[in-house]
Amino acid sequence: MDLGTTVLEMGGRQCILDVHPGTMGPHVIDIGKLFDQTGAFTYDPGFTSTASCKSAITFIDGDAGILLHCGYPIEQLAEHGDFLEVCYLLLYGELPARAQRDNFEYRLTHHTMVHEQMSRFFTGFRRDAHPMAVMCGVVGALSAFYHDSTDISDPYQRMVASMRLIAKMPTIAAMAYKYHIGQPFIYPKNELNFAANFLHMCFAVPCEEYKINPVLARAMERIFILHADHEQNASTSTVRLAGSSGANPFACIAAGIACLWGPAHGGANEAALNMLGEIGHVDNIPEFIARAKDKNDPFRLMGFGHRVYKNYDPRAKIMQKTAHEVLGELGIKDDPLLDIAMELEKIALTDSYFIEKKLYPNVDFYSGITLKALGFPTTMFTVLFAVARTVGWIAQWKEMIEDPHQKIGRPRQLYTGARRREYVAMPDRVAT
Ligand code: SDX
Repeated sequence: MDLGTTVLEMGGRQCILDVHPGTMGPHVIDIGKLFDQTGAFTYDPGFTSTASCKSAITFIDGDAGILLHCGYPIEQLAEHGDFLEVCYLLLYGELPARAQRDNFEYRLTHHTMVHEQMSRFFTGFRRDAHPMAVMCGVVGALSAFYHDSTDISDPYQRMVASMRLIAKMPTIAAMAYKYHIGQPFIYPKNELNFAANFLHMCFAVPCEEYKINPVLARAMERIFILHADHEQNASTSTVRLAGSSGANPFACIAAGIACLWGPAHGGANEAALNMLGEIGHVDNIPEFIARAKDKNDPFRLMGFGHRVYKNYDPRAKIMQKTAHEVLGELGIKDDPLLDIAMELEKIALTDSYFIEKKLYPNVDFYSGITLKALGFPTTMFTVLFAVARTVGWIAQWKEMIEDPHQKIGRPRQLYTGARRREYVAMPDRVAT
């Protein structure tokens, strides 16, 4: 369906702009010719109404609370799928047949080890360094070890770098955790699947056999699936922008990790659990709700609200269910933080402020409770988010690199600074 064009009138001049429809969701107005035709830029600092690219990977309908990966609903992928087939789907656009999945798993599995010298990187960090700081450094350093897969013009090297990143992120994350707690690194085990291998590398010790709990491994796998990709979020946009300059994929993923760390983005799961701890008891909830509504108080309910979802984040519902499963499996009857979270959600969803502003729990609201129950410290929560999101970053980076129309991203600005003025010699200057 060709929606044709739309006309923008400005200063007596008409600018005819093409309108493109998507498979689903909002159409886009192509403003590529706007500056040439009107001498004006568009202005949308938070990109609230701006599509930065075409993509066939993930679709979100924020009003309806819908999330699809290549057309498949997240609820079905989380219920019936495993993380590796979601990785395959995001990278290649289709669910793998058995032989394709087995080959993909074999290739990934045989990239899970890191260069032995990388372990020396960790000794340069303080033990109490935030694991996300370690991840930024070590992942960025991968390009110093894998020169044979940094030429992004070579499809084979792009594929190898992609496999290396997806496969090595869990290993590096587990190493960051082990280093943080002063325990020896545990090597990957090729007979374990992605999630079980990660749990093993994090929680096994050389002194005894670590038994994988299948319920916990399945919960870990579901958490990875829920965090795998999410359209053009801040960290994915960071990876795309870094990649648009031709930077190697290791450097681009390190940039994505840095952006994800922010508490408004992937850091919200750590912040949400810390917030529940700060609330401390259900009786204190009204005070924190009042603070969240107070314009003069910077406090926000972490794990609530979303740029796109103006309905319940579909991932949050699955995370809540997973939290109950994990706590049940571990025999944790009354987790005070879960009680506070459930009561907070109930109150917030009936409060006019949250209803009017369409603030619902997002994926980060319940993930922290689950991850804490699995045994991770809060400082590792965003690291786990990064482990899962690496496949989404890579899939989006791959889509951008393979786009024949791709060019370097270079936004413009609305200039509000000083007009041209002459240089003032030091003796003539007056401190301002
Ligand atoms: C993720 O983009 C993605 O897809 C991200 C993500 C992914 O998978 O990649 O989904 C992962 O980052 C989830 C979001 C995690 N962040 C948080 O939980 C932090 C708390 N949430 C807020 O900081 C906020 O909701 C954002 C950052 C998530 C979204 O912010 P927006 O879209 O810029 O909205 P806004 O800040 O302009 O808020 C709109 C209004 C404001 O009030 P007014 O200025 O209009 O009066 O709602 C208020 C805000 O003050 N508001 C909140 C609130 N979130 C927004 N008030 C209290 N508590 C909150 N959590």
